[in-house]
Amino acid sequence: MMRTPILALLLSAAAVAHADDQDVIDYRRHIMHTMGEQVAMLGLIAEQRAPASALATHAQVLAITASTAKKAFETHVDGGEAKPDVWAQWPDFAKRLDALVAATGELAKAAKSNDVAAAAPKLKDLGCKGCHDTYRKPKT
Ligand code: HEC
Repeated sequence: MMRTPILALLLSAAAVAHADDQDVIDYRRHIMHTMGEQVAMLGLIAEQRAPASALATHAQVLAITASTAKKAFETHVDGGEAKPDVWAQWPDFAKRLDALVAATGELAKAAKSNDVAAAAPKLKDLGCKGCHDTYRKPKT
């Protein structure tokens, strides 16, 4: 008797699924959350409170994650902590995300050989706070 392999069922289910609004919000928040974790670990390393041998890895993960952010915000779904200005001022918001990709790329380069002294100054100017001050609703 022929049986449909489970994998084929899973694949066909994935093919018909569509992201709903909550998925769009969840996805971009996971990206931001991931970056928050990487920056927290990098901060510990910069203060020599965590192993420097992981510096390059965390910087790379941060840079790679930053490169996924623009696509995640492209779909206009109000909600989460995102202010409507994200989409009303899209060219500025997108430019800030491009700058984030560049800045985290520079950080990853400086961190390549786990050189804390070279990387630490680049941690200070990633543009996270500047964008949050403008485009993220304050915590309620
Ligand atoms: C171009 C603007 C922009 C930049 C740059 C940016 N963020 Fe965000 N961030 C946002 C917005 C908008 C939200 C709210 C998203 C939502 O709730 O839908 C957010 C949310 C967050 C959150 C909360 C995520 C959650 O779990 O809800 C964290 C943590 C965060 N950002 C960390 C960072 C870090 C760290 C950086 C820098 C490495 C960064 N962000 C750079 C715009 C930005």
